[in-house]
Amino acid sequence: MKQVLVTGGMGFIGSHTVVSLMEAGFRPVIFDNLCNSSEDVLEGIARITGEKPLFIKGDVTSAADLKALFTGHNIDAVIHFAALKAVGESSEKPLEYYHNNIGGLICLLEAMQEHGVRNVVFSSSATVYGSAAHMPVDEDTPLPPAMSPYGSTKQMGERILFDASIFRSICLRYFNPIGAHPSGHIGELPLGVPNNLVPYVTQAAAGLRKSLTIFGEDYQTPDGTAVRDYLHVMDLAEAHVAALNRLQQVQDRPHWEVFNLGTGKPISVKTLVETFEQVNGVLVPRVMGPRRQGDVPELWANPGRAKEVLGWNAEHSLAAMLRDAWNWQQKL
Ligand code: NAD
Ligand code: UD1
Repeated sequence: MKQVLVTGGMGFIGSHTVVSLMEAGFRPVIFDNLCNSSEDVLEGIARITGEKPLFIKGDVTSAADLKALFTGHNIDAVIHFAALKAVGESSEKPLEYYHNNIGGLICLLEAMQEHGVRNVVFSSSATVYGSAAHMPVDEDTPLPPAMSPYGSTKQMGERILFDASIFRSICLRYFNPIGAHPSGHIGELPLGVPNNLVPYVTQAAAGLRKSLTIFGEDYQTPDGTAVRDYLHVMDLAEAHVAALNRLQQVQDRPHWEVFNLGTGKPISVKTLVETFEQVNGVLVPRVMGPRRQGDVPELWANPGRAKEVLGWNAEHSLAAMLRDAWNWQQKL
């Protein structure tokens, strides 16, 4: 298994995964419509790996684009990142989210079926757990009704792969990926005002935003702010290499598997911001604000299954994640 199709490979997690794939000896083929990324990413990857990966501009909702892709390249496996991912926006534009995330997945699987490609790794999310009663969550935790159309597309995506048993699939539930490649050549490029915590923190520290609002200080958590499981995007990238190795090596594995990808360490918003300041020697102007609608008080992973079965665990510290995030922000 050498040639790997990476849909959404120009995006935040996809671009870091492409670096890990190249370093592990795979030949990635990036397929992306650039709706949330730019072609400059290719330069960044080339500066790290010494080689520009193959990039094909196309849309996963287009059967014609996919046909041309699979006809022209001998693909052994697919990593499917391409999706829309803004939770709030998904409630405003549910059809767009279902079309892109579900329509795109089905179109991709149909093209794979037609071309005899059976191996797929799917980007799922910790959002599928909603507001779970017990922490940390493991993969056997029952899934509640999704809290947003976005979350619903991740639950449905997992289910579609479960039902489509001709494929050998691995669903990866990412917790909160942050940071950037330590070189600072690639990172996260949020368009407009960031929704997620760390891009907001780096922009506030850089003076691009007046101040960070901490959403809620009255949660039943040790310091009153919400708790999450942040992991370095390069650790997450490596997990995809581990998932491909599993698809490749183990013939008697179940046709569908799901893994949590997190550190297993709960971190509060307050701790994250204070650690950022200490590690980078900069101040993050901030104010306390009300809770953000739809946020859960706490969510962190039991990542034991990924360690046991994939041989993967997150290695970078919170300090390293925040140092690399700041390094990237300063190079923007
Ligand atoms: P991103 O927006 O940076 O990357 C997604 C890429 O997919 C972009 O380059 C975009 O241009 C492309 N894309 C979107 N729709 C497409 C289409 N129809 N055809 C072709 N390309 C398309 O997002 P990311 O943070 O790298 O997330 C990657 C995946 O991981 C997504 O499926 C997302 O839902 C999932 N995920 C992300 C997070 C996170 O915190 N970033 C957490 C959990 C799950
Ligand atoms: C969010 C999404 C989740 C998605 C993930 C990655 C929601 C409800 N959840 O997770 O589905 O998989 O992003 O895209 O949107 N915070 C602040 N101030 C800010 C921004 C965030 O205090 O300006 C807090 C939030 O309230 C939260 C924590 O920081 O407690 C992390 O927020 P964020 O980075 O947006 O991630 P999640 O909400 O965990």
